[in-house]
Amino acid sequence: VGRQGLIIAIDGPSGAGKSTITKRLADRLGYVHIDTGAMFRAVALAAKRAGVDTTDDESLVRLCGGIEIDFLRNNGCCRVIVNGEDVTEAIRTPEISALTSAISARKVVRDFLLVLQRRMGNAGGVILEGRDIGTVVFPNADVKFYLSASVEERGRRRWLELKAKGENVTLEDTITAVAQRDKQDSGREHAPLRRADDAIDIDSTGLSIDEVIALMEEVVRTKEQAH
Ligand code: DC
Repeated sequence: VGRQGLIIAIDGPSGAGKSTITKRLADRLGYVHIDTGAMFRAVALAAKRAGVDTTDDESLVRLCGGIEIDFLRNNGCCRVIVNGEDVTEAIRTPEISALTSAISARKVVRDFLLVLQRRMGNAGGVILEGRDIGTVVFPNADVKFYLSASVEERGRRRWLELKAKGENVTLEDTITAVAQRDKQDSGREHAPLRRADDAIDIDSTGLSIDEVIALMEEVVRTKEQAH
């Protein structure tokens, strides 16, 4: 009631194509895209800069209290702004990725971001992408997708991305890092990566981005009509 559109959850492991797909699907639907991974990354970057240890919950709480995260949307795409600074690129380095995985396991950080994520998504007309959107953040989401791909495929995609950015990494190391992150994200105690029982499974291994988007759009349009 009073909602301007559906709440759509897209969860899955890193490298499954979530970000690209969510961004483009949101554009097609006229929905707002909320990248929850970027929010965890923003906290990790702030922790690194402040020299806060990932296990120091007391300092993490204080740190979170001083962080303001905004998504600046222009030309469809979004910049991630933390306390007025554009950190879009700074939060995507391999170092911050590894740190984010550790920091996202802390309950104090999850609790803090959960409130923000619900506030951002409540009005509807949103697609949230993450690991626990369909299970924890919006268990009553109107549409839930679980987007995955084989670890080799995801590692290969991440490697191509990093290479394009001029990072000097091997394919083998990138696959290992992806597998390591999977293990951490799925094995953690709080809100682990898990497919919601009522999520629609999409394996993107052999599919193009356009094919995945078309599949999802079809599901959402059907659901919108019934709404
Ligand atoms: O989607 P991403 O690669 O930007 O996510 C970065 C890290 O944040 C990843 O290790 C998992 C974690 N994360 C999480 O725990 N819960 C979310 N909703 C989103 C991301």
